[in-house]
Amino acid sequence: MTEKFSVMRSVVRGVGAYLPERVLTNDELSKMVDTSDEWIVQRTGIKERHIAAAGETTSMLGEKAARAALAHAALTPADIDLVIVATSTPDYTFPSTATQIQAMLGMTHGVAFDLQAVCSGFIFALTTADKFLRSGSHKRALVIGAETFSRIIDWTDRSTCVLFGDGAGAVVLEAAWGAGDNADRGVLTTHLRSDGRHRSKLHVDGGPSATQTVGHLRMEGKEVFRFAVGMVTDVVKDAFAATGLTAEDLDWFVPHQANRRIIDMSAAKLGIAPEKVVITVQGHGNTSAASIPLALAAAAADGRIKQNDLVMLEAVGGGFTWGAALLRW
Ligand code: ACO
Repeated sequence: MTEKFSVMRSVVRGVGAYLPERVLTNDELSKMVDTSDEWIVQRTGIKERHIAAAGETTSMLGEKAARAALAHAALTPADIDLVIVATSTPDYTFPSTATQIQAMLGMTHGVAFDLQAVCSGFIFALTTADKFLRSGSHKRALVIGAETFSRIIDWTDRSTCVLFGDGAGAVVLEAAWGAGDNADRGVLTTHLRSDGRHRSKLHVDGGPSATQTVGHLRMEGKEVFRFAVGMVTDVVKDAFAATGLTAEDLDWFVPHQANRRIIDMSAAKLGIAPEKVVITVQGHGNTSAASIPLALAAAAADGRIKQNDLVMLEAVGGGFTWGAALLRW
């Protein structure tokens, strides 16, 4: 290998997404709990969310997103040797949703596993896949974020039920040699953080070991909001510091799609121009680990994100967990 091509990079070859057919609007929600379209839009930017049909599981959503990403990459399951599924709403306690999707794709080779970091799950899974590919042990990864949060929502709690939705998104990453500088295509830097002291602010009140139930999502919304902007900006700044790049160099900022106000405040604090921010939360609400690939798929499909564009991804989730990934598309 010449010095010019000295670093292995994980390059995005394809992206895909899937949203369940059933759309639940704010107006419909206002017939279920004491809320209104005006309140939800003003506080969150969300207009509607998608809800999985009875019997439609996280793996089914993930498989559809994976197939869309493979088609976009002009690849088949035979070309993939690593499948990582970020989810907090697996089909079953075990086996993993990833091995279910592996089987649905007809793959009997390679390795598939789940990763759980709540809404930061996609950034954690992308980072993990990047490290596998850069080590040389694997060549092509499907990184999938798939969720059915509708199954863990307390539909009588207006402070949480208006925020979440179901969906899935996926990217295909391929190992490719780069020069080792910021002009390389692929993942340039990743930064992950966690702090388990904040469990009570955002958690699910059930689980196999603690309660032998699935449980419901509980959140201190104001507290999460208070921490979120600081965590996002810190980790994005880490990505800038590691590469010497700045907000001005970015072509696109693709944040976790939880809440329009958190996105706007984070972008403003980081000095990222509003026209560079990809926002899709209005159409699907907070889909946790699925939200970043859903936003990427939308912005790639409509021609906004193009080859060689510099893209910053970030997310904050329960745990707390948080992270950022900077990549050249
Ligand atoms: N409709 C109408 N009123 C509501 C609703 C609703 N859906 N929900 C709460 N309210 C009421 C409250 O009861 C309260 O009424 P009160 O003043 O009479 O007590 C009032 O609205 C204000 O409530 P707050 O919780 O203070 O409202 P806030 O402005 O903080 O907005 C929100 C709430 C939207 C949840 C906000 O705190 C937020 O976005 N937090 C971050 C949440 C988030 O993004 N979480 C995802 C993190 S990622 C993950 O890992 C899941």
